[in-house]
Amino acid sequence: MCCSFKCFFIVTVLIAVIIPNLVFYYGKDSKRAAGSIPFITPKETWGFTFEEMPDQTGRIIIITGANVGLGLSSAKLLAMKNAKVIMACRSAERCDEAAKKVKEVAGPASEIDTMLLDLASLHSVKKFADSFLNKYNYLNALMLNAGIMHTKYGLSKDGIEQQFAVNHVGHQFLTMLLLPLLEETSAKVPTFIASVSSSASHQTYPEGIRLTKEEINDESTYSPFNAYGQTKLSNVLMAQELTRQLTERGKTNVFVNSVHPGLVNTELIRQYPEFMQKYIAKPIIGNNLAWDPDEAALSQVYLCTDNKEGTLVKTNVKGTYFVPLARVAPGNPKHSDNLELQKKLWVFTQKLIEEVMA
Ligand SMILES: NC(=O)c1ccc[n+]([C@@H]2O[C@H](COP(=O)([O-])OP(=O)(O)OC[C@H]3O[C@@H](n4cnc5c(N)ncnc54)[C@H](OP(=O)(O)O)[C@@H]3O)[C@@H](O)[C@H]2O)c1
Repeated sequence: MCCSFKCFFIVTVLIAVIIPNLVFYYGKDSKRAAGSIPFITPKETWGFTFEEMPDQTGRIIIITGANVGLGLSSAKLLAMKNAKVIMACRSAERCDEAAKKVKEVAGPASEIDTMLLDLASLHSVKKFADSFLNKYNYLNALMLNAGIMHTKYGLSKDGIEQQFAVNHVGHQFLTMLLLPLLEETSAKVPTFIASVSSSASHQTYPEGIRLTKEEINDESTYSPFNAYGQTKLSNVLMAQELTRQLTERGKTNVFVNSVHPGLVNTELIRQYPEFMQKYIAKPIIGNNLAWDPDEAALSQVYLCTDNKEGTLVKTNVKGTYFVPLARVAPGNPKHSDNLELQKKLWVFTQKLIEEVMA
């Protein structure tokens, strides 16, 4: 009785609300979120497959937020092609558990290193970068993957709105600390940065990005959705701005791009009420309509490995936004081509970092 009520409820919600919304939002011709749903993204259209990934022996790749979801799947895919994967996580226990899962699929001899990184604390980011730089003398790719979504208003350990702090500021700082090594390595081989964004980069505050700490931290006008979108737009703009700076400095062998991974069945919804996760998000969307993270991760993996033909490098693809699966797409039409905004965001973020690290 109880089960049939549950089934009836799920089917009703699915038909009446969720499917029409998802089709509208993520539909095949949607400019905002093309490729987000796997069943309308046939494999023939994919820009990359696991088979097309070159062997990764000898390559070192850092993944932030590697213990679950897209980060863990990326670690598995890369380790299965023999990369040395640095799994950067905020909990040592969860990281070690995840490393075991990677070894289960990639083999006990796979080269996995687990390291602590809490993006909500810039001092933790510095500590991570210092330990990495003490241990390794080259770096092939940096996958800026960790993220939190739609959280209630809250501040990071450094007093910065938490979504902005974790999704953007911590990642920009990490990038700056590791960039010299990525550049040094790029004298011999191409190096890569993948900034994991979202189609939510299309839904942000009217001004795109709030460019003062007071506005970023303003609880009275805080919207969990716009604040998340703001961070995901920041991921796109940071990739573009870094590309611009690298090009200006003649560092042409570092390839920085951003990517929307799709609607993916991960733990990103963990802050939603349990009821919603249990009866709607997981059973209806996650298990039926969303990408499996092992497939969706291919887009961000592509941006860290290129393909066997070396298409990214040969065609000089940089500062570009990708959607599932590994296909180039236009970004937010209102803000992502705003060069002024991307420069200002960079400067503002550096200032925030300097204030905390002073
Ligand atoms: N899933 C989707 O549908 C979707 C769609 C568009 C974009 N994305 C983007 O994809 C990326 C990966 O998300 P996901 O879907 O794989 O989510 P997930 O399963 O929730 O994984 C997020 C990862 O980020 C880590 N993380 C959170 N806060 C952190 C912090 N302060 N320091 C270090 N790591 C932290 C988490 O660690 P803990 O386990 O310790 O919390 C976890 O490893 C995110 O940037 C997200 O915005 C996802």
